[in-house]
Amino acid sequence: MVLYYIVVSSGNSMRDLIESKIDQLTQQYGSPLFIASADKIKNNLEVFNSAFSQKYPITAVAYSYKVNYLPEVLKVIHNQGAWAEVASGFEYEVARKLEVPGNLIVFNGPFKTKDQLEKAIDEGAIINVDHSDEIEQLEQIASELGKKINIGIRLNMEVGIDQLPDRFGFNLESGEARQIVARCCKKGLLKITGLHVHLTSYIVQTESEDNIPAKGIKLIWPKGHDSYRKASQKLVDFSNDIRDEFDLKMEYLDMGGGFPTVNGISPYVNAIVYPILDGFKECDLPKLILEPGRAIVSDAADLITTVVAVKQLPNGQRAVVVDAGINLLPTSFWKFQDIECLKKTDNNIEETIVYGPLCLQTDIISKTKLPKLNAGDHLIVKNVGAYNIPQSSTFIYAQPAVILVNGENIKVIKKREDIKDMF
Ligand SMILES: Cc1ncc(COP(=O)(O)O)c(C=O)c1O
Repeated sequence: MVLYYIVVSSGNSMRDLIESKIDQLTQQYGSPLFIASADKIKNNLEVFNSAFSQKYPITAVAYSYKVNYLPEVLKVIHNQGAWAEVASGFEYEVARKLEVPGNLIVFNGPFKTKDQLEKAIDEGAIINVDHSDEIEQLEQIASELGKKINIGIRLNMEVGIDQLPDRFGFNLESGEARQIVARCCKKGLLKITGLHVHLTSYIVQTESEDNIPAKGIKLIWPKGHDSYRKASQKLVDFSNDIRDEFDLKMEYLDMGGGFPTVNGISPYVNAIVYPILDGFKECDLPKLILEPGRAIVSDAADLITTVVAVKQLPNGQRAVVVDAGINLLPTSFWKFQDIECLKKTDNNIEETIVYGPLCLQTDIISKTKLPKLNAGDHLIVKNVGAYNIPQSSTFIYAQPAVILVNGENIKVIKKREDIKDMF
């Protein structure tokens, strides 16, 4: 990994840097180029953390690795005191390599191998179980170890949103969740000490085609805080039911992620916190775990891209081709990207389709109003720090560099790929 120190303009924020040094940056690091801001990540975490900890006495923020787990990004996040939320044994290993202690790791996900579970148990991680095969696997481990293992269970529930069936966890309304608790208590090998829910980004059938490339399905976003209130209340009610019926005390409630941004987080905090404060005696309050991902990193990275061609489509529509495609910005399947042009002109602004360079009709990054552009002009694809970098692929093109701006320093945190990396 190469470390560069270049002189950053006076304001030294990511924004200032892009505006003042865009040509220099693309010359030095190539185009396209992801630029992440350590200050923004720190600020987002601080706002998120303090919003919850001001209202609730025992909170833990476990950053959701899958959203962006470049090690240098994770270091910034862990230096702020965040735990790790991992969804695979691989992500678990990344956290351990960064010296996150096992007891500050929340291990989620539908596929955990026996070896990985044994290691996580040994290191004191929080394990949230997804399905009954995992329960069986853990019971086997508990018998082999000759000791009871603490687990959390993931629940799925109706929270008033029209959605496809939730494939994760045990269903609350059907009685599946209660049955699994009863089974664990009867067998006596696993002790349920926590409940987990993550209100996934809901996908529903759409009525109109909506101009979105992935037609026929639509992401409802952002989710309202009311769904969190319902989920929180249901976790509290279920905790109290299983306390009364099975004498189980919940040590933690994990409300997952899904928070759109840290701006306006307060209604989400209230929605989650008040049902818990009202539903438990003060001395029995469980730890509240949050697993934010996008709220921490989404607006902490932009992508610089360069126009490579200007086109007029057969229907007269203006279009441009840029050097970054959906292989780098897979979230473009769900929403058009927010694109800014640094060329400040009111002249000739028109709706423009922004295509990537891939030989795919679906390689559409955005449809947005832009001034007349020429090949060589730069565009900024804003707020792309969540779900894009870890899902990027070397489809047709090698992947670009990612740089991290931290105070006055710029560091290459992911090297630009080249042909040598293929061999
Ligand atoms: C279990 C779990 N927690 C947290 C997250 C993070 O979600 P978000 O980025 O919407 O905050 C995810 C994302 O899929 C998840 O599956």
